[in-house]
Amino acid sequence: MGGALVFVGFMGAGKSTAARSASDALGKPLVDIDAEIELRTGRTIPEIFEADGEAAFRELEERTILEVLDGAEPGMPVALGGGALGSARVREALKAHTVCWLEIDEATAWRRAKRSDRPLARDKDAFTRLYFERQATYEAAADVFLPQGGRSFMTRIAARLLEAGAGRRLAFGRAGEAVYPVWFGERVWPVTDDRDVVITDRNVAEHHGARWEKLRQLQMEPGEAHKTLATAERLWTELAEMGATRGSRIIAVGGGVAGDVAGFVAATYQRGIPVVQVPTTLVSQIDSALGGKTGVDLPAAKNYVGAYHQPEGVHVLPSMLKTLPAAERAAGYAEVVKTGLIAGGTLWDQIKRGAVDEPDVVLGCARVKLDVVARDEKDGGPRQMLNLGHTVGHAIETVTHYSRYRHGEAVGLGLLAILRLSGQDALRAEVRELLAEMDLPVTMDPSIDVDAVVAATRSDKKRIGANVPYVVLDAPGQLRWGQEIGDAEVRAAVEELR
Ligand SMILES: NC(=O)c1ccc[n+]([C@@H]2O[C@H](COP(=O)([O-])OP(=O)(O)OC[C@H]3O[C@@H](n4cnc5c(N)ncnc54)[C@H](O)[C@@H]3O)[C@@H](O)[C@H]2O)c1
Repeated sequence: MGGALVFVGFMGAGKSTAARSASDALGKPLVDIDAEIELRTGRTIPEIFEADGEAAFRELEERTILEVLDGAEPGMPVALGGGALGSARVREALKAHTVCWLEIDEATAWRRAKRSDRPLARDKDAFTRLYFERQATYEAAADVFLPQGGRSFMTRIAARLLEAGAGRRLAFGRAGEAVYPVWFGERVWPVTDDRDVVITDRNVAEHHGARWEKLRQLQMEPGEAHKTLATAERLWTELAEMGATRGSRIIAVGGGVAGDVAGFVAATYQRGIPVVQVPTTLVSQIDSALGGKTGVDLPAAKNYVGAYHQPEGVHVLPSMLKTLPAAERAAGYAEVVKTGLIAGGTLWDQIKRGAVDEPDVVLGCARVKLDVVARDEKDGGPRQMLNLGHTVGHAIETVTHYSRYRHGEAVGLGLLAILRLSGQDALRAEVRELLAEMDLPVTMDPSIDVDAVVAATRSDKKRIGANVPYVVLDAPGQLRWGQEIGDAEVRAAVEELR
């Protein structure tokens, strides 16, 4: 990242407003391209459209943007028109600048745009088509993803953070009032100081420990078997012994196990100290490090004790995955497939064509998680989507005492079961093939007792009252949650896995 701070997005996304708040935050004058064109031509945009047509306007717009970007001072806020990225020359020029995509849902965009005199907001169907056509272009160009809600605050944070340097992409996590940056890139290791204590596991320390050799660190044994209260108690005690205070901060470096335990320790030590998550597995980069759920397992069931504790920031370094054992990469891949099924659209297209852990896919999956969590911090509604395939997956892990399958492997089996229960035979076959290509199990160990798995689904902690609510899928990107499914059907879907 570098160059000008360029705001892009669909009609009604608030590009001019965002550029103004960045301008206030940075004390730099802004350029609004539409206003600049009107100033230069002495005509309004609707007048130019009316008299000269859209093609002539696009030429004028391209020329204006290229000139403005060419002379832009670093950090200068620039607001582009919604269609500006249709020009290949503009897209090319933007590579030298920092592009902030102001996301907006279609309904809100239409509500705002139809009241205006925008030439492209006269017909609803054409508007909708244009909206979906343009999303992928914005996404591909974006360095910074600014979701709806609390945006002027995020824009100000982004404006300041961007001064920090190049080669990074930035999204935001939100939960209630909390907003935190989620960095992606090779140079996003957190800025640390003496108050920080790294909590990691032995494997991660072996591979990456050189990064934090100057910091205080605590290690846990790797593996789900150590995601326990006993481990948390040892870590609390060691923190106390090393004199950690309420002013200390935990840097959680590791996969979902270390991240969940370290997050829980941070949530509870002296009633809560900040935590920064540095996820090192595919599962943690796209899922567990995002969203603030922390906790440990009980012998009876996974994640039965925990707390919501939003991170202060999340730092995703793609190269950390290079040392990940193949089986762990494969286990994470099950979560990638799950996320693609939740998202549908271009992300699912990339995944079904064979993408695994490319930085764009990691970023895409992480953004799905961030978006769902922002809409529902505590599992009341849309967040349940993230449990696609998890009820049966968790049950398989529980009856095998977390030792037969990795979490992601169990999720893969759970996905196959829920696709059967959703009546998605063709999609189930497609997913089965994707999982098999990664050497993930697509059948369940026949020695596992099917009735025990069905019984274990009933102790799923998402249960409210007598029934376990399932997430079912009608098509990639179209899910329904809170669906009741009878034991006999569940039994048949689990039996089929054997
Ligand atoms: N909090 C949440 O919202 C959430 C969401 C999903 C999953 N989870 C939890 O995440 C856990 C699974 O996480 P996971 O799949 O990351 O497993 P993990 O943390 O056990 O890591 C897998 C293995 O890889 C090793 N490892 C980690 N990073 C490495 C690296 N870069 N190089 C080499 N080895 C590395 C670990 O030491 C471990 O042996 C489960 O406990 C699950 O409940 C939590």
